[in-house]
Amino acid sequence: MKYRQLGDSDLQVSEISLGSWLTYSGGVEREQAAACVEKAFEVGINFIDTANVYGKGASETFLGEVLQNRPRDSYVLATKLFFPMTETDSGLSRVQIHKQLNDSLKRLKTNYVDLYQCHRYDENTPLEETMIALSEVVQEGKARYIGFSEWNAAQIKAAAQITGVEKFVSSQPQYSMLWREPEAEVFPVCAANGIGQIVWSPLGQGVLTGKYRAGQPIPKDSRAANDLMNVFIGRLLNDEILNAVEKLKPLAAAENLSMAQLALAWVLRDERVSSAIIGASRPAQIADNAAASGIELSAQTLTAIDEILNPVLAPVK
Ligand SMILES: NC(=O)c1ccc[n+]([C@@H]2O[C@H](COP(=O)([O-])OP(=O)(O)OC[C@H]3O[C@@H](n4cnc5c(N)ncnc54)[C@H](OP(=O)(O)O)[C@@H]3O)[C@@H](O)[C@H]2O)c1
Repeated sequence: MKYRQLGDSDLQVSEISLGSWLTYSGGVEREQAAACVEKAFEVGINFIDTANVYGKGASETFLGEVLQNRPRDSYVLATKLFFPMTETDSGLSRVQIHKQLNDSLKRLKTNYVDLYQCHRYDENTPLEETMIALSEVVQEGKARYIGFSEWNAAQIKAAAQITGVEKFVSSQPQYSMLWREPEAEVFPVCAANGIGQIVWSPLGQGVLTGKYRAGQPIPKDSRAANDLMNVFIGRLLNDEILNAVEKLKPLAAAENLSMAQLALAWVLRDERVSSAIIGASRPAQIADNAAASGIELSAQTLTAIDEILNPVLAPVK
């Protein structure tokens, strides 16, 4: 496993990191989820991403339990806030930042997270209030660094211009061969401000592994077949996309890679990406995905990928 620096922080994060969204908030049975975390450490993953809202605390509680016996400095732990935890608890106000982080730390059974992220931008709270409160939790030692997820370029610039507060070091956008929108504005503005990318759904929720095929039944053991986890995958399961993905298979084979490795090596080809946050429903997937670290795709393969996928990409803004 190779490691990259996360933006201007001193965090060294594994190129492949482990997320816990649909999988470890209840979608994957507990024993198997614990085996996945175990496997992640075995293959050199040191970076784990969660959020208070994943299973309304369930993902953090699970991680708090399975990480408890590992030295706290042997892994980099990231969580987030913003989405509603109750009818009255949501957003990025000062009160919420202190309250939600305290609750997350209790569930995670730790006194600090390495990275505290704003899950979305809060239109209802002044940005200054959010940045001051984030700085307070850093000063209190409860968060080492701060980041955001899915903020736009103007919002990122506005935060960078506020003086006397902690600076963001990480951005968490959706990014994959099938979703390239952040390349246009978010990646450049972040690079100019010492902010690294930790990208979500790099496998298109599994679609880029080639397991779903146009006109074929959905595999029974897949996310798309699981009612606890198939809430967001639908938009990627159309025949046009699936037929294009099918055409990537000979490219992966020619590079001696699995389809998952091709997709992950593709996001990691950009050095502004510090880590690809994968989800995994079983340990073998983690071993497969971790092996993408350090792989460099040939210029020929990169061009061929674009030729195949360009017709099905959403227009980049
Ligand atoms: N900030 C945000 O708003 C946001 C949004 C979404 C996600 N995230 C973060 O990003 C993480 C990853 O998201 P994601 O789970 O959608 O990522 P993903 O890596 O694109 O998809 C993960 C799913 O693909 C399948 N898979 C993974 N490796 C495979 C392999 N080698 N071979 C075959 N199938 C494989 C598994 O599903 P099955 O085996 O069940 O088919 C797995 O659960 C989340 O856990 C979360 O931490 C953040």
